[in-house]
Amino acid sequence: MPSATTFEYQTLKYSIDSSVATISIDRPEKLNALSSAVLDDLRHLVTDLRVREDVRVVVITGSGEKAFVAGADIAELAALNDSEEGREFAQNGQAVFSLIESSPKPFIAAVNGFALGGGCELALACHIRICSENAKFGQPEVNLGIIPGYGGTQRLTRVLGRTLATDLILTGRQMDSREALEQGLVARVVPQSELLALAKTMAVTIASKAPMAISSALECIVEGIDESIEEGLGREAERFGQLTTSSDFHEGTSAFLQKRKPDFQGK
Ligand code: COA
Repeated sequence: MPSATTFEYQTLKYSIDSSVATISIDRPEKLNALSSAVLDDLRHLVTDLRVREDVRVVVITGSGEKAFVAGADIAELAALNDSEEGREFAQNGQAVFSLIESSPKPFIAAVNGFALGGGCELALACHIRICSENAKFGQPEVNLGIIPGYGGTQRLTRVLGRTLATDLILTGRQMDSREALEQGLVARVVPQSELLALAKTMAVTIASKAPMAISSALECIVEGIDESIEEGLGREAERFGQLTTSSDFHEGTSAFLQKRKPDFQGK
C-alpha cells in the first residue's frame, strides 16, 4: 500500500510519501501566479507541514511544464492604489515566505520553468534550489513600475551578491539555468523529466538524517548569515553542544561503531 496521503487545497496539490511532502502550485493556466488565494493556501499548508511528525522535508514545484511561478498575480496587483494597502500586500507575501525560510524542516524548490518576481522570491525563501534546463529566473518588477516586494531585494542580494542582484533587479532581465548554476543560484540543473525525481532523491536523503541535526544546521545557516562571525560561531557551538545530548547522536555514533544503519527518531 502506498503511504502517500493527498489533501485538497483550492490552489495547491499536496502529497506525502516517505516523510517527504511535495507541494505543486496549481494554476497552470496562469503560469501558477501567486494570487492571494495561493498565498492563503501556502500559509495554511506550510504552517501545518512545519509541525507534522510524518514530514521531514518539503519539495515545492509548479504544475505544468512551463512555469514554477510567474510572479505575483498581476491582475490583483493592478488594483493597488494606496500605499498602506500596497505595504500590506508586500508584507503578506513576505510573511508566508519567512514561514518557509524559518522552517526547521528543509524546503527544496524544484524550479520547472519560469521563476519570475514572486516565483524567484519563493525559490529564494527555500533552503535548496534545483531546476530544469528550461528554467528562467528574474525579478521583472521594474517593468511594472514597482520593485520586488516578497523579499527579492534582500534574499537575491544575499544569495548572488550585490553586483549580480543589482543587475537582475534593475534590468529585469531573465537568467537561464546555465547561468543560475554558474552563479550559485541553484545547486543542480537536470532535464525537466528528471527534476522531480532528483528533488525527491535529495529530500529522501535529507529525511534519513537526524532531524534535530538538520534543523540545527538550517538555523545556523539561515540566522548566521545576518550575524557577525563571532555570533554565528557562538550559535554553531551552542547547537553542537545541545546535539551531543540528543538520543539521535548516540544512535548515530553507536550505529557507526556497530556497522549498521542508524534509526533516527528526532529526539
Ligand atoms: N500574473 C497573472 N497572470 C499571469 C502572470 C502573472 N504574473 N504571468 C502569466 N500570467 C497569465 C497570462 O496573463 C496568460 O493568461 P491568459 O491566457 O488568460 O491571457 C497566461 O498566464 C499565460 O501567460 P502568457 O503571457 O500568455 O505566456 P507567454 O509564454 O507568452 O509568456 C511570461 C510567459 C512568463 C514571459 C509572461 O507570462 C510574463 O511576462 N508574465 C509576467 C511575469 C512578471 O512580470 N512577473 C512579476 C510580477 S510582479
